Amino acid sequence: MEKSKLKGMPFEVSRLCMGGCPAGEYGWGNVSREEIEHAMLHAVEMGVNFFDTADAYGLGRSEETLGETLHACRNRIAIATKFGVRVENGKTFWDNSPTYIERALAASLKRLHTDYIDLYQVHNLDGVTPIPQLMEALIAHQQKGDIRAIGLSNLSPGDLPALLPYREYIASFQNHFSLAHRDDEAAIRDIAAGLAAAPLTWGSLGQGILTGKYGADVHFGADDRRSRAVYDNFYGEKLQKNLRIVEAMRPIAAAHGVPVSAIAVRWIWDELPGSVVITGVKSPEQAEANAAAMTFELTAAERAALNEVSR
Ligand SMILES: NC(=O)c1ccc[n+]([C@@H]2O[C@H](COP(=O)([O-])OP(=O)(O)OC[C@H]3O[C@@H](n4cnc5c(N)ncnc54)[C@H](OP(=O)(O)O)[C@@H]3O)[C@@H](O)[C@H]2O)c1
Repeated sequence: MEKSKLKGMPFEVSRLCMGGCPAGEYGWGNVSREEIEHAMLHAVEMGVNFFDTADAYGLGRSEETLGETLHACRNRIAIATKFGVRVENGKTFWDNSPTYIERALAASLKRLHTDYIDLYQVHNLDGVTPIPQLMEALIAHQQKGDIRAIGLSNLSPGDLPALLPYREYIASFQNHFSLAHRDDEAAIRDIAAGLAAAPLTWGSLGQGILTGKYGADVHFGADDRRSRAVYDNFYGEKLQKNLRIVEAMRPIAAAHGVPVSAIAVRWIWDELPGSVVITGVKSPEQAEANAAAMTFELTAAERAALNEVSR
């Protein structure tokens, strides 16, 4: 398994990270906790040692499942979780305040059955808490040992100037990026260079469209977030373009004897140096298909073809 070194982490993490949103068992259609547990254990067997979750996923359910399932191999894996989404009386607020960090961190540690978090990430900057206040609260927890590394998420280039003074403390940031979503590519490169931080990509499989299993007639039930038009990978002109990308991926996958999803992962690894690709996974079979990305290299011609069709 290819590895990446993140500032503050004592060991290298796999460049494939298992995404824990489906483990929240909410908004991803039919999800079985048993299958998710098997997927987590199988991922570890295959050399994946990096697991992403958030306190918001299933309002803690995802963290609980991760903490319970991987407790026995806790010292061999890195857990990344996020805070900053506060839900009260059914309403959702972004909250990065130091007071809320205390509450959120204590609750995450408990649900994860651990006394430290490898990578603690700000889910979204709330636009209210001053960056120095936020960063100093996180650095204090890092020095205490509650968290090993600090990460951010959903950054835009405008966030960079305020974060630059904390460059030495920022290990990573998570942003939306895939063959189906290259809109923020230049920003991701600039932020990664500016902060010397590892880009972690989410939506890496285009929420599933880049696995090749969905066609023009794709339809999701009301219990699946992808039934909402905001998941634009599955609608209109964007869907048509994504299906053309998948058609370009198929012969490349066949040439290497790997599933289409592995092409989506490999392409990001090659395009973004030092990146970690997060893939949301519901079953051991999906985990295995995505991990096939480590079994081959893309040729220059294949990369060029993928870049052209996804431009
Ligand atoms: N920082 C943030 O704000 C943020 C936002 C979103 C996500 N994330 C993180 O990134 C992770 C992944 O991103 P994402 O949730 O947007 O989705 P994604 O990884 O692009 O797609 C995940 C979905 O694709 C399908 N899939 C995965 N592997 C497959 C395979 N090999 N074959 C066929 N289908 C497969 C599964 O759904 P079906 O089987 O139902 O199609 C899975 O739920 C999340 O779990 C979370 O950890 C972070």
